[in-house]
Amino acid sequence: MVPHNSEHVVVAPVRAGASVLLGLSVTYGTPLLVIDELTLRGAMRRFSTAFAREGWTASVTYAGKALLVRAIARIASEEGLALDVCSLGEFETALRAGVPAADCIVHGCWKTAAELDAAILNGARHVVVDHRAEIDELGARAKAAGTTADVLVRVNPGIAAHTHELIRTGAPDSKFGFVLSDGQALAAVMAVLAHPNLRFAGLHCHIGSQISDLTSYETEVDELLSFARDVRRHCGAQCEVIDVGGGLGLGAGTAELTPENWSDAIFSAFERGLADGELARPHIYVEPGRALVAQAGTTLYTIGVRKRLPDGCEALIVDGGMSDNPRPALYAARYDVSIVGREHEAPDGEYTIFGRHCETDRLVARVPLPAPQAGDVLAVADTGAYTYSMASNYNRFPRPAVVLVNEGRARLIAQREPLEHVLDLDVD
Ligand code: LLP
Repeated sequence: MVPHNSEHVVVAPVRAGASVLLGLSVTYGTPLLVIDELTLRGAMRRFSTAFAREGWTASVTYAGKALLVRAIARIASEEGLALDVCSLGEFETALRAGVPAADCIVHGCWKTAAELDAAILNGARHVVVDHRAEIDELGARAKAAGTTADVLVRVNPGIAAHTHELIRTGAPDSKFGFVLSDGQALAAVMAVLAHPNLRFAGLHCHIGSQISDLTSYETEVDELLSFARDVRRHCGAQCEVIDVGGGLGLGAGTAELTPENWSDAIFSAFERGLADGELARPHIYVEPGRALVAQAGTTLYTIGVRKRLPDGCEALIVDGGMSDNPRPALYAARYDVSIVGREHEAPDGEYTIFGRHCETDRLVARVPLPAPQAGDVLAVADTGAYTYSMASNYNRFPRPAVVLVNEGRARLIAQREPLEHVLDLDVD
């Protein structure tokens, strides 16, 4: 692995060895997303332990948007995590994996009627309401179904967390949730409380992803508790649940970003904010995605082309690219790369790795590697989060396969998309 280029390690990963990875590349082809089961389960357990505090009730929810196929949903559930889903597709995946709806929290900034009905009829644990009309629609649909929906109100505290602007979600210009400062959030809580088919359970907030500064969470908790006080004073209601979202950052190069430090920051902010005894201790939720699954994933590519560019840069072109990992293009994300089986050889120069799309889809810039050649298999580390889940069919590339590895034993958990699936969508 190449240290200068690394996304920072939060939970020590147990990565499959070179012979296993090479075997997988032959058996399943490349590009291939390999998920290490022990790393994934280890991260889930470490977060659960970090949030198990005497005197508190807290739950870790897996934000399924980071990577959701049935096997992953099942693992999260087996590890005792609840599941955050934000579309019918994610919810249905969870249900088909056997995850009880009562363990699912349904999000989304604009939920369709089908998504609201699915949440209501299956009995999701919470529906997180995100805009005013949704409260009425959810209430009406719950009434029509003769039931009650359990609601969290998503609030936007206007915190510009220190992260890439495209992954900030609680900032003044963010589309999510109800604004705290101008009364929209309080009006939303009142509307939920007023509806006989809605039960107000509490508040939700998510300030963004890859947050590297834990004080952002302290500010968030302060804002949430101050609003919980307003709710109590103006509406006489308790926030039984306060969900502070996910977003713990990897890759910021600070050793402070551990599950334990994150939970310390969150619990101490709650302790400080509740010290006057006005509010009861809420049930705390956190919902990390990336921090649970990123390091469990490695993407394998085969090098197809090596050439020198006009600027002298040595380029490698691999058999995937922005269709299986759009993150370098979207967020300038950086990854560690190695040649499988040649990790210990001394680099002979720097190479820039491109995908094979009709774009400058640079996956990793200027990485030292030992004389890479066409046919070598490259391992790109820490790719478990937001790669497969954000994959596209750009240039009509089928999506890669996903394999789950546990101590050398491999199980295909998502088949490589057959090209016919892509081609068959055309009608004429
Ligand atoms: N909860 C909510 C409501 C969210 O919207 C998200 C992420 C999470 C939890 C989990 O955040 P995490 O712990 O994974 O950072 N595609 C971007 C990330 C966008 C995340 C959107 N919401 C990326 O590749 O970095």
